[in-house]
Amino acid sequence: MGGDFMVKIAVIGGSGVYDPDMLENVRQEKVETPYGEVELQVGTYAGKEVAFLARHGSKHSIAPHKINYRANIYALKKLGVRKIISTTAVGSLNKAMQLGDFVLPNQFLDFTKNRVCTFYEGGERGVVHVDVTDPYCPDLRRKIQEIGSRLGIHVINGGTYVCTDGPRYETPAEIRMFSMLGGDLVGMTNVPEVTLAQEAEMCYATISMVTNMAAGISETKLTHQEVMDAMAANSGNFRRLIMTLLAE
Ligand code: HPA
Repeated sequence: MGGDFMVKIAVIGGSGVYDPDMLENVRQEKVETPYGEVELQVGTYAGKEVAFLARHGSKHSIAPHKINYRANIYALKKLGVRKIISTTAVGSLNKAMQLGDFVLPNQFLDFTKNRVCTFYEGGERGVVHVDVTDPYCPDLRRKIQEIGSRLGIHVINGGTYVCTDGPRYETPAEIRMFSMLGGDLVGMTNVPEVTLAQEAEMCYATISMVTNMAAGISETKLTHQEVMDAMAANSGNFRRLIMTLLAE
């Protein structure tokens, strides 16, 4: 999977983060992988080459269970990327994590059912059991938290991300179960993105933004619009966090 040119850092933009407008000299790239072609952008920021990939496509047309996670991670690895910062919209199960808060998960619970979750399916590539004691890079998390406190942006370092297949939201019964199991946040995209990055030996962290309290905790029914509105309201802080990180 080694790269022929060197882009060291990538941003994977989730819901509400589709645009690499933080970068300069942006060019479109098509990267071939054994899992299909990936379209992404490469630009510069603070003298560094940075790749940007919109996880749901530039028009939010790819549902969470249809995202080609393997192709995405493979493509970034092929470009030479060593560090990935992703953004994710999440519902919160934890009253200490409120609407608009930024959380850096340090653990996950995998409730996906229908996803290819590994590069290592046997055959030529073999069978590999990767360690996920620290699925989310502690150094990168520490750095993002430090930047948050410098910029006056409240960032909570640590939390358990529950990943569901979606695209539907959860039932209140599911949320109660996730809560009993120790879940803090619920989203639809972090697994297998984080574990594929681990298999590819890349440093990965995600900045989750709480867009709603989860089903049954929220007093109202959930809508995609409220998720998008919450992301839009906080996109400035996302950009400030990520741009400062890229510049360091
Ligand atoms: N559940 C799952 N995914 C989500 C949610 C949620 O409540 N909010 C944003 N993404």
